Amino acid sequence: MSENRKEIGPYEYSEQFNDTTALLVTVDKNGKPNMMTLDWKMLGNVGYEPIIAVAVATTRYTFECLKEGTKAFTVNIVSDKTSKFTNVAGSASGRNTDKFKQTGAEMIKGIKGVPTIKDSLLSYECELLGDSQIPFKSSHYAFFGKVVKAYASNEILK
Ligand SMILES: Cc1cc2nc3c(=O)[nH]c(=O)nc-3n(C[C@H](O)[C@H](O)[C@H](O)COP(=O)(O)O)c2cc1C
Repeated sequence: MSENRKEIGPYEYSEQFNDTTALLVTVDKNGKPNMMTLDWKMLGNVGYEPIIAVAVATTRYTFECLKEGTKAFTVNIVSDKTSKFTNVAGSASGRNTDKFKQTGAEMIKGIKGVPTIKDSLLSYECELLGDSQIPFKSSHYAFFGKVVKAYASNEILK
């Protein structure tokens, strides 16, 4: 299967990272992947390391996956081909829906068994470092991940 993407540096195309909705992929404690639509995210340099922070409400199944599942996540910035997944990923819950099955989103193997989503504009594989409740938005926690790999689709590279 062609992955239709190339590895890039973590800060390349950061404009698209900031401006565009993402699909956050996690894996639950039974090893099952789940995706959630995500707008609140940051990419920056902390301690000279590329760090992504994602803001996840405590009510989300994704919150449970980040707390109890694999200590990694992937952030997948949507493209024209994957933006159609955001409705299901942003309304259904992984508690009772297999959103990969429902949307037909294709996975590419990623860090510690957490997949990325094929045909994303940008994808980031992150090792989960820790989390903290957001002081000014206490319904949400910020989960911090170190970017270990970043990819851009061939479309963006044209
Ligand atoms: C456009 C859009 C952006 C969203 N951004 C976030 C976000 O940044 N953080 C968050 O916790 N939920 C966000 N949500 C809500 C979750 O995606 C939604 O509650 C989802 O069903 C949670 O899935 P889960 O229970 O499988 O984790 C967003 C929803 C939409 C439609």
